[in-house]
Amino acid sequence: MKGRKYSAPPKSLVVLISGSGSNLQSLMDGCAAGRINGRIKAVISSNAQAKGLVRAQNAGIPTYVFSKAEYGDARDAKMAEVIASFSPDFIILAGYLGIISPPLIERFRYKIINIHPALLPKYGGKNFFGINVHNAVIQAGDKKSGATVHYVDEGTDTGLIIRRKKVRVMPGDTPEVLQKRVLKKEHILIVETVRALCNGNIRARKIYKYDRRKGK
Ligand code: GRF
Repeated sequence: MKGRKYSAPPKSLVVLISGSGSNLQSLMDGCAAGRINGRIKAVISSNAQAKGLVRAQNAGIPTYVFSKAEYGDARDAKMAEVIASFSPDFIILAGYLGIISPPLIERFRYKIINIHPALLPKYGGKNFFGINVHNAVIQAGDKKSGATVHYVDEGTDTGLIIRRKKVRVMPGDTPEVLQKRVLKKEHILIVETVRALCNGNIRARKIYKYDRRKGK
């Protein structure tokens, strides 16, 4: 995708991480190259050691750490105030391992998205994170996997799916090899999806229909 000049002002983005931040880096590069009409206003981590914090600091992006150990159950309330101070158009969970509480979801409903390293709804839910996901795909003998970006709702990896990208599972793949192949696809998917969201090409109408179907 070529970068381009946008007429509309950039959307305000807040990114939540817990680890290396390679998806965050893809978003930073996408914004810098003009592929995303957005500006990452803050990076928040649940883990003070997250390498993604260094990526943000090197780019001059304000960073915050809200660990469960330090904040306990008050974490999300404190985090919500910081997030709100940036008036985000979108809040992107990019490898964020914390569970977002219902009040935080309600306050920013349809603004919070998550990237998951599998083709949801398969291989999603409480125990499916990190290498466990790829282990399960290989154990099941699936021939394809992939990555999914979805809205965050009160469930775990259950919100409305926005976009997915498939990845082939090759004979002899180890979970680590598959994880690397999926992660490369995630980096493309997250930029394409956030670009579409910032351009207003993904309508909330679809979401309301989805939530009505779920009896919300
Ligand atoms: C990615 O595989 C993402 O799908 C999952 O956690 C991993 C984060 O990787 N939720 P990174 O921190 O973006 O490198």
